[in-house]
Amino acid sequence: MSRTIIVSNRLPLKVFRDDNEQLQFATSEGGLATGLGSVYKKGDNLWIGWPGLAVENDNDRKVVDQQLKAGNMRPVYLTEEEVHEFYEGFSNETLWPIFHYFPSYANFDENHWESYKKVNQKFCDAILEIARPDDTIWVHDYQLLLVPQMLRDQLPQISIGFFQHIPFPSFETFRAIPWRRELLMGLMGADLVGFHTFDDMRHFLSSVSRLAGMKVNQTQVVVGNRTVTVDAFPMGIDFEKYEGMASHPDTLSQEVDYRTSIGKTKVMLSIDRLDYSKGIPNRLKAIEMFFDLNPQYIGEVSLFMIVVPSRDTVPKYRALKEEIDLAVGRINAKIGTVNWKPIHYFYRSFDIHSLSAFYRMADVALVTPMRDGMNLVAKEYVASKLDNKGVLILSEMAGASKELSDSIRINPNDIHQLSDAIRDALEMEVEVQQQHMAVMKQTIKRYNIHHWVKLFLEQLEGIKDDQKTAG
Ligand code: UDP
Ligand code: G6P
Repeated sequence: MSRTIIVSNRLPLKVFRDDNEQLQFATSEGGLATGLGSVYKKGDNLWIGWPGLAVENDNDRKVVDQQLKAGNMRPVYLTEEEVHEFYEGFSNETLWPIFHYFPSYANFDENHWESYKKVNQKFCDAILEIARPDDTIWVHDYQLLLVPQMLRDQLPQISIGFFQHIPFPSFETFRAIPWRRELLMGLMGADLVGFHTFDDMRHFLSSVSRLAGMKVNQTQVVVGNRTVTVDAFPMGIDFEKYEGMASHPDTLSQEVDYRTSIGKTKVMLSIDRLDYSKGIPNRLKAIEMFFDLNPQYIGEVSLFMIVVPSRDTVPKYRALKEEIDLAVGRINAKIGTVNWKPIHYFYRSFDIHSLSAFYRMADVALVTPMRDGMNLVAKEYVASKLDNKGVLILSEMAGASKELSDSIRINPNDIHQLSDAIRDALEMEVEVQQQHMAVMKQTIKRYNIHHWVKLFLEQLEGIKDDQKTAG
């Protein structure tokens, strides 16, 4: 039977060592891992990726292999040097900043590029060990841009899809990368390349034609005697899971606990990985401005800000953490009272019931990235609002803003606008909240993760059928 093999840098399960140096497993954070969680468990499907820790010892590897195998996963182990040069280096100090329009944060290091090529080959080899000719190989995200062509060279007929979970920048920004042509050619091994938005797709096609000199016919790139189809597939969430979670007894009891501690205070919520693309410092500035301009809200409403640790070995992330710590401390010290504080700040991850309880309690969700491929938190908030009460403030720079036009959309650079949006959200009539929420819910219920997977894989299958017919 033909299988779908998902390939991404990070597996949905991560390994770490506890205080006693024992191996432990936990679910991974991030939209890719949470979004595709329901796909790979089906039938014989598999997920190949890195378990998130340099596991060197053979016995430890056996333990990890076994645990992953039981969950339809296969590991690709990276050495510490590869973690440093490929993951922290090229993936997150070169591609991530360029693709999120932070070019001044980007490092261009020849050694990191060499490691990127080597590790992409390592992933390709791991696929080749497992793949059968009739499998569908679905490669994900910017860490593995070279894998499609490496695989195509070995298996010319196999079905290869690629999906990019982060934005694709405009040609003018992308061209800064010294290895831009190689990166684009790496993707040319795929049969279908998907992006979250039409704009990402347009930017990609413009780079393909202007930087790689390839012929582009509308949404198809001509590569020798093959064509590569490019399309937009806005990713959805597992709507039923989040809706169901919002009435789960564990979620409700968690909410009671939180509510007992904070009393009647209104709740604003933000949930992000620690990342400069998420706009956290600007959000904090807007919160401070909001309380300065609207002192009647002091003691009435607080921001619950969940920041999930991420890539904290990369210098820009470490610096951001310090900036946030300082800003939160300063604002709480300036505006807080004896029995109230403006910001409840958590630097850790939460289990799904706690997240769901936060979503339920939040009168306002603040999703204000400077740039985001999609942003699933925005969609999870809407799905969790069983009574449709609540207001979503959403950055126009997030892919999700294209679909969620009933949110209050803001430009994250406009602190004044964001501060006003917070006041408007808190003062919105309940009926109006419910009208907007109902419209957004309809959209994310319909275009859910199952719909997204089906759309992508059916289009890929159609392309392969056409190739066979053409001969
Ligand atoms: N998330 C999580 N644990 C947490 C906080 C968040 O698993 O403690 C999840 C969250 O529910 C969402 C994902 O992490 O599914 C974040 O995805 P998003 O698309 O918003 O941003 P990304 O991290 O992919 O940039
Ligand atoms: C984003 C990226 C994913 C990545 C995730 C977590 O969602 O699109 O590819 O896995 O962030 O980042 P990390 O570096 O921890 O894998």
